[in-house]
Amino acid sequence: MNGEHETENTLTNRQGHPVTDNQNVRTVGRRGPTTLENYDFLEKITHFDRERVPERVVHARGTGAHGYFEAYGKVGEEPVSTYTRAKLFQQSGKRTPVFVRFSTVTHGTHSPETLRDPRGFAVKFYTEDGNWDLVGNNLKIFFIRDPLKFPDLIHAFKPDPVTNIQDSERIFDFISNSPEAMHMITFLFSPWGIPANYRQMQGSGVNTYKWVNQEGKAVLIKYHWEPIKQGIKNLTQKEAEEIQGKNFNHATQDLYEAIERGDYPEWELCVQIMSDDEHPELDFDPLDPTKLWPEDTFPFLPVGKMVLNKNPENYFAEVEQVSFGTGVLVDGLDFSDDKLLQGRTFSYSDTQRYRVGANYLQLPINAPKKHVATNQEGGQMLYKVDREDPHINYEPSTIGGLKEAKQPGTEYTPHIEGNLVRQKIDRTNDFKQAGERYRLLEDWEKEELVSNLVGALGSCRKVIQDKMVQLLTKCDEEYGHRVAEGLKKTGSDEKGHIGGPIGATQTDEAVEKAEQE
Ligand code: HEM
Repeated sequence: MNGEHETENTLTNRQGHPVTDNQNVRTVGRRGPTTLENYDFLEKITHFDRERVPERVVHARGTGAHGYFEAYGKVGEEPVSTYTRAKLFQQSGKRTPVFVRFSTVTHGTHSPETLRDPRGFAVKFYTEDGNWDLVGNNLKIFFIRDPLKFPDLIHAFKPDPVTNIQDSERIFDFISNSPEAMHMITFLFSPWGIPANYRQMQGSGVNTYKWVNQEGKAVLIKYHWEPIKQGIKNLTQKEAEEIQGKNFNHATQDLYEAIERGDYPEWELCVQIMSDDEHPELDFDPLDPTKLWPEDTFPFLPVGKMVLNKNPENYFAEVEQVSFGTGVLVDGLDFSDDKLLQGRTFSYSDTQRYRVGANYLQLPINAPKKHVATNQEGGQMLYKVDREDPHINYEPSTIGGLKEAKQPGTEYTPHIEGNLVRQKIDRTNDFKQAGERYRLLEDWEKEELVSNLVGALGSCRKVIQDKMVQLLTKCDEEYGHRVAEGLKKTGSDEKGHIGGPIGATQTDEAVEKAEQE
């Protein structure tokens, strides 16, 4: 209902009061001073003062899109129900709405999208059983396998707390003391560390999950997104620098414009399946997120495809406030005992209660697109009470209130026993797959990898360079040798510490200064 002097387009404040003057604050006389009872002004400026929420502690720079997931009803040639009872996968052609957020990891909200960094690939499936989040990366592995190391890993990659400049010495100081990172570093410093854009890259759940069927039987699962339609494209360091000189939003722009012109990007979701045991026959632990499962033994089996066909209507409301978590699973999907996964599962909703607020799940982008009924009360920004009976906010009750759901299938009850310890897994095997990856790269990719590592290590102290060369030699002799030779050739093995971000060209003054020291 509008007042006499209002139309649908009339500007109001959030109290619904029409704003009659949006150009002049109220002042004593034309020249001021202003008065403090000026509610419209206070309303406008204080809301503006609060336009930002804390940026994500990692993956702050991102973009997103809506779309759908379409199931094939099969996993490879078998009915999917053999392995999982999750409803979204069962019928061929069944569509589930999704929202996807792509991101870079290390730097802030408006940092360039051309940086050497893993890319985030997070998908929220709004299923009939509630939400499922698959929070993945473009590379199929990770730097570390123990969640206790995550804050240190991120501190090493983020800018120096004094200079606020990313420093490859800090990165390689950490990495050269974390041999499990060699596999990821080999991917990251090759062209695979700079995908050309978000459409032409793969995605992966990285961690091992489980599927549970109607009989309560489980298998181990790894998820992979393959950009079949668009293909995969990565950039050399030089190509990335050229793009960055002209456009530091190129990946966001690429995705937005492709969707606007109706060229909808697609990914096929594939799974690798392993029986749920320790697999002593393998030379690695299947739960180790620094490892790939060999594709010849554990083939990629397609289960459906995802199409992104709608841009967000508001960046902040959707892309900034969307909140993904590895704990967000539906019936038929489960965790594995992967330690990193369990650490992640605590971290995501913890940070979101701080970043977005206690009621973040009531925001439209995060709320499931189905019936929600809880006995939760209060908290900042409570939007609505999500149950019919406003009085009975406890359970069990004889006189009303909400009741528990029925168990949808035989419960999965794995038997777990062991001593409580602080120990590494067996079969760490930190170098073999990194060496295989090096040998699998094409010649130009190997050249890029060596030159990018030489560039980044060039600004590190010799003790760090030596440690890295030793570790890379353990992966593959030629690999270590080429990096050592590169450091010698450029004279950087003797320069000592200069500092600087990965991929940066050292200034002459910095080199000169380091040479004098
Ligand atoms: C974002 C923690 C490992 C993928 C985040 C955020 C935290 C976090 C706190 C910010 C979430 C937010 O503010 O909404 C951790 C911890 C890890 C870990 C503690 C290891 C112990 C990984 C791994 C992957 C990954 C292995 C890839 C599989 C992502 C993605 C996002 C993210 C894609 C951005 C989600 C979005 O777009 O909103 N992580 N992470 N993280 N993480 Fe991790």
